[in-house]
Amino acid sequence: MRNLTETNATEAVVHTFEGTPDERLKEIMTSLVKHLHAFIREVSLTEAEWLTGIQFLTATGQKCDDRRQEFILLSDTLGATTMKDIINNRKPPGATEYTILGPFYRTDAPALPLGGNMAGHLSGEPVVVRGHVLAPDGRPIPNATLDVWQADAEGHYDLQMPDLKGTALRAIFHADAEGEFNFRTIKPSFYPIPHDGPVGQMLIATRRHPYRPAHIHFIVSADGYTSVTTELFAEGDPYLDSDAVFGVRGSLVVPFVHHASADEAVRLNVSAPFWTVDYDFVLDPVEK
Ligand code: BEZ
Ligand code: FE
Repeated sequence: MRNLTETNATEAVVHTFEGTPDERLKEIMTSLVKHLHAFIREVSLTEAEWLTGIQFLTATGQKCDDRRQEFILLSDTLGATTMKDIINNRKPPGATEYTILGPFYRTDAPALPLGGNMAGHLSGEPVVVRGHVLAPDGRPIPNATLDVWQADAEGHYDLQMPDLKGTALRAIFHADAEGEFNFRTIKPSFYPIPHDGPVGQMLIATRRHPYRPAHIHFIVSADGYTSVTTELFAEGDPYLDSDAVFGVRGSLVVPFVHHASADEAVRLNVSAPFWTVDYDFVLDPVEK
C-alpha cells in the first residue's frame, strides 16, 4: 500500500474491501472503484477537471430539498435511471413496458369513477382515454387500478402550480369487471424538466435541451400481476426522439385522434373538438 502506481492503485483500493461482511456491498464497492479508476485513466482527468466535478456534485446536493431531488434528475438525464429501470423490469413480449416514474408522482390522488374528468376546471383541449387492462393471453383483468397523472396544456404539474390548493390532473380509476376503463382529461403538452440547477447547467454545456415529449403517466396494478409504471406518449410530438430523460419506448407512443363531431362529443360527455386515445395495458402475472 506504499508504492502506488497507475497500474496497481486500483487493486490496492479494491483490496481494502475484502473484509466487507455484506457480499453485495463488497461487489458494488469493488466494481465502482474499478470503473471510477478506469474512467479517470481513460480521460486523463486533470486536477481542474476533478475539482469541477467535485463542485458540480456539491452543487447538485445543495439543490436538493424536500421537494427537489437534483441527484435523481442527474441520474435521469444521464440515462442511469432508464438503465436501472430496464434491467429491473424485464417483461415478456406483449406486456406493457415500464418507463420512468419521474418526480411528480404523489400518493394522494383522488379516486374518480370511470368516465370522470381528472382535469377538473382546468382548461385545455378535451381528451377521452379508454382501453382495457389485459393478461398476456388477451383475457381481461377485472377491477385493475389505474393511478394517472399528467401536466397541463402549458406543461405544468399540480406540484408546480403555486396557487393551487389540493391536487389537479391526477386521479385513481378502477377498471370494470370486464377490464375496461375510460376517463376524461385535457391534452398534455411537452415540457422542460426542472433546469434551473446544476443539471440544467450540464444540459446547456453539452448543448442538450431539457424537454420531455407530451405524455400521460400511469401506474397500473391488479392482484396477481406485477404492477407497471409507464407513460403514453403523443404520436407526432417533436421531442419523441430526444427525450431529456430517455423515457420513450416505441410501444408506448400512441395516436391522439382528433374528432370534430358534436354528436360524438355529446356521447362521450366532452365538448367538440376533442381527442381520443385508445390503449390496452397488458400486465405480467406474478410468478407462482
Ligand atoms: C416526468 O415525466 O414527470 C419527469 C421524469 C423525469 C424527470 C423529470 C420529469
Ligand atoms: Fe411527466
